[in-house]
Amino acid sequence: MALNLDAIGKKIGPVTKDYSWKDVVLYALGVGAGFDELEYVYEKDLKVIPSFAVAAIFEFLSYIGSNANIDLSGILHGEQDLIVHNPIPTEGTLTTEGTISHIYDNGKKKGALIVGESETYHSNGQKLFTAVITLVGRKDGGFGGEPAPKSEVNFPERAPDFEVDAHPAPDQPLLYRLSGDVFQLHVDPEFARMAGFEQPIMHGLCTHGFACRALINSLVPGEPEKLRRLKCRFSKALYPGDPIKTRIWKTEDNQAVWKTINTRTDEEIITNGIFEYGEVPKDEIRFDGQVAVVTGAGGGLGRAYALELAKRGAKVVVNDFGGSRDGTGGASTPADEAVKEIESLGGEAVANYDNVATPEGGENIIKTALDAFGTVDIVINNAGILRDKSFTKMEPENWQAVIDVHLNGAYHVTRPAFKVMREKGYGRVVMTTSAAGLYGNFGQSNYSAAKMGMVGLMNTIKLEGKKHDIRVNTVAPLAASRLTEDVLPPDLLDKVKPEYVAPIVIYLASNRCKETGCIYNAGMNSFNRAAVVTGPGATIGDGENPPSVEAVMDEFGKIDSLKNGREYPELNEQVGEVINAFSKPARQEPEAGGGLTSVPAVFEAMENAFDPDAAKGVDVVFQYHISGDDGGDWHCVVKDEKCQVASGVHEKPTCTLKMKDSDFLSMINGTLPAMQAYTSGKLKIEGDIMKSQLIEKLFKM
Ligand code: NAI
Repeated sequence: MALNLDAIGKKIGPVTKDYSWKDVVLYALGVGAGFDELEYVYEKDLKVIPSFAVAAIFEFLSYIGSNANIDLSGILHGEQDLIVHNPIPTEGTLTTEGTISHIYDNGKKKGALIVGESETYHSNGQKLFTAVITLVGRKDGGFGGEPAPKSEVNFPERAPDFEVDAHPAPDQPLLYRLSGDVFQLHVDPEFARMAGFEQPIMHGLCTHGFACRALINSLVPGEPEKLRRLKCRFSKALYPGDPIKTRIWKTEDNQAVWKTINTRTDEEIITNGIFEYGEVPKDEIRFDGQVAVVTGAGGGLGRAYALELAKRGAKVVVNDFGGSRDGTGGASTPADEAVKEIESLGGEAVANYDNVATPEGGENIIKTALDAFGTVDIVINNAGILRDKSFTKMEPENWQAVIDVHLNGAYHVTRPAFKVMREKGYGRVVMTTSAAGLYGNFGQSNYSAAKMGMVGLMNTIKLEGKKHDIRVNTVAPLAASRLTEDVLPPDLLDKVKPEYVAPIVIYLASNRCKETGCIYNAGMNSFNRAAVVTGPGATIGDGENPPSVEAVMDEFGKIDSLKNGREYPELNEQVGEVINAFSKPARQEPEAGGGLTSVPAVFEAMENAFDPDAAKGVDVVFQYHISGDDGGDWHCVVKDEKCQVASGVHEKPTCTLKMKDSDFLSMINGTLPAMQAYTSGKLKIEGDIMKSQLIEKLFKM
């Protein structure tokens, strides 16, 4: 019975679960709560222990095991990471979707590691939590795959700040299993012996719930809603009835590391624990399940971006060549140290030391992301060097070296990543320009040219990426770093930290960013947009003969004026205006609004929005039933990489989507996310729900 490696990357779900206050209380009892914590077990003013989240998606988690085809007699829970985005309500419906992201091979003795990642939404429309589970297939190792990357939490060498004792009852698993995990290993003595244990063992997630209570009681007593992240590794089985102790060290504001030991044997049963807490920010931007590449991330601005991305859940490739300010030399230390820092905060990162200035370097940086994390969602082109000289002293090697790192580097790294992003239909790219390029700076002709070149690169690839939801923007930072130590006045250096630039870069790298092709200045709490603006100018002559030099000079006031200037989204629009100058008297202002404003218009536009590349092997019929004054029935047949849309009801639809006209338009125009529409009941799907998810891939409305 071999592992199913094809399961990697395949979507699992949506899996739904209805729950009521009784499920919340049953879970709390299962993880040891009682009269001392009445808020967890009494329906009056009930609160949810956040670790309930993982128990509540047990059905989804079981698909990770079954889809990967793990040998059940060797299966164990290896690691668990839970990131809470919004407090968990005491009742409702949870909808979970995810995938198996990795299957690692730690050899025949240690087994295989199967990593599953998921996102869960509540029926109130809110995204509640992200869960990353690692299952151990003890009998599935040795299939010749890559071993799992190592990541260890550093525990301080001092006594813990808190120690919490607990005594799970000898019958604890019998109660805990009623929350969903009814696996025989925790109840059936014969099965337990077959799996190599003396008797049924505690559920790792049951001990996890005990530890979660201990952490909340120690760090945010009475406020379970302040838990932001709970991560740990299950290192040893625990028999029911053995006493446990959770040891907690506060490491920085709002963060602690922890482990739980078996007090009878002194063995660590849960280790590598991380607990983050604080107010849950509304609509927090997260990158869970996403992979970011940051070039030049061993120091300065890039390091700040990498740390913030990792804190928010991204897996990060920290690229840095490690040379000196002028690009000579090289070392692995800067990238390694940034990776260590990310790991000590509980994040995931790998180092890469390639030079962005070569095509092989760029390819290898993206290969590092694909090898370590399977994909790439974000590229931040940040690596940079300086070789300042006044223009007449600017020798070709100094010109070339700077162009190579900044402009050619952005090309070498972004191009291989763009191929991956196009295929997956998602990507965010951030270029780094400079005020020296946008406005000019004495002695930086090479740097200014390279930095403005990156703006030109953005202007074109923003168009090529648009259909694939790849957004490309540019930041012009102002920050204290080794590049600016002799440019910025020394008294300013302390006040211009890279952390003041990072927020806008993180936003531009996120799925919330809808902008593309924009340039932003950022630094010292100040943010603004810079753009190429074109004035209305003058049309001179009759269009039949070239105008004279003098006629141009006479009209120079108009030609020079930026009054009523505008930005053009692409060449065609600007050239189109020039070509039409004699047929159209004045520049037309674009109409306000935009987007599709009626349901029939959506179906008219649908065939044009169809992406045949995404339809290989797809054979489906989508039936739409849209209610309301603007509604009606339409169906769409996708077969042989072609799409036909017609009004009326199809006799054999694969799935039927039902929605109100206004909700449908909000969804099409992007203000109502499809997942939210579904979980809130605004979108009802009958028939093959999984196939309905192809719609987003097949049509770029
Ligand atoms: P920094 O020198 O601290 O960081 C740049 C990093 O890029 C260094 O760690 C360096 O080792 C790495 N790097 C250089 N060449 C590389 C190559 N060929 N391959 C891989 N890595 C390489 O400087 P800072 O200020 O953090 O600069 C980041 C970016 O921001 C640069 O592109 C810079 O031009 C730009 N910038 C910075 C401004 C500021 O005020 N700090 C102003 C305007 C732009």
